[in-house]
Amino acid sequence: THVDWDPGQAERGGYAHFMLKEIHEQPRAMRDTLSGRLDPAGGRVLLHEVGLTPDEVKALSKVAIVACGTAANAGLVGKYLIERLAQIPVEWDLASEYRYREPMIDERTLFVAVSQSGETADTLAAMREARSRGARILAVTNVVGSTVAREADWVLYTWAGPEIAVASTKAYTTQLVALTLLAIWLGQHNGRIDPAEARALVDALRRLPDQADRVLALEEAVKAAGEELARHNDAFFIGRNLDYAVAMEGQLKLKEISYIHAEAYAAGELKHGTLALITDGVPVVALNTQPDLVEKTISNIQETRARGAFVLGLAQEGDEETPRYCDRIFYLPRTHRYLMPALAVLPLQLLAYYAATARGTDVDKPRNLAKSVTVE
Ligand code: G6P
Repeated sequence: THVDWDPGQAERGGYAHFMLKEIHEQPRAMRDTLSGRLDPAGGRVLLHEVGLTPDEVKALSKVAIVACGTAANAGLVGKYLIERLAQIPVEWDLASEYRYREPMIDERTLFVAVSQSGETADTLAAMREARSRGARILAVTNVVGSTVAREADWVLYTWAGPEIAVASTKAYTTQLVALTLLAIWLGQHNGRIDPAEARALVDALRRLPDQADRVLALEEAVKAAGEELARHNDAFFIGRNLDYAVAMEGQLKLKEISYIHAEAYAAGELKHGTLALITDGVPVVALNTQPDLVEKTISNIQETRARGAFVLGLAQEGDEETPRYCDRIFYLPRTHRYLMPALAVLPLQLLAYYAATARGTDVDKPRNLAKSVTVE
């Protein structure tokens, strides 16, 4: 018998692409990013690397989260969490836009730059602008000693390990973990977080990597859905609140590697225009993981169904309502609602991957995209 030997195969740990290998590394990457940051004695987060004192955290007037691409999508989740858990107003901006609106920030602003590579030109420029206005600067990055890390006051590393595929996967989920830790930590320092909630979140964070493993076991079913999706030229992703933030990342993954046109819409915004684009057979990926919003999002799913959409739903185990309005359902393990994004994105990464492989694109090196963009 003849055995094909592809020299890249060993580097890719036996996977066909770096992206698939990196998708499967996420439970490990999450564990590493949590390591040493959860107080073994109980419900507290320890971030020794962030040098703000409790008084300084109490005095913060705002947090500014600035990034590009996938890191910006993670930052959007961070905005919701910091506002909810630490009750500090958060501004979220795309780095390429930041300087042009003359941001109103000062010494009482905590500026958070999120960047996998730590070398993105726009993120660096935004960070320097924030520095010139006196903000305190925290970098959330994956690369030790990167420019963003060197220029920040403090660095919260994501321990994803080297990410080779252009489409970001494990960097995103570890950014979510890092930003969740930061939100809890800020809330503990300014006294705004309910200690019982902090404890519940810390317990849920400990369970998260194992739950991520369980979600990745959906791979075969997601593959079938990805192959169906590959036959379409347009797709929509909808969700509310945290589900909207994850929809942003889901549509980006799909576009980046499969070249299928995709759009993310806040579920409640569809009726303000986009519904006209939902016609017979158009795929709609509906995220419905936030318990108090299930009914609202179901009504938006129905709006798309009434126009013939083919709906792929993501819901929490135990939700018996959402599947009744979907053509396919992917169940996610139950966790704290604020941690659902880190689980919900996993099937969306796999969906993009299998849609792309079905279309035969160069998954690890999609056309016209670079891993790290060092020009503005
Ligand atoms: C490029 C990559 C994206 C990445 C973005 C920001 O566009 O293709 O995957 O999200 O840059 O990169 P950073 O290294 O700053 O996270």
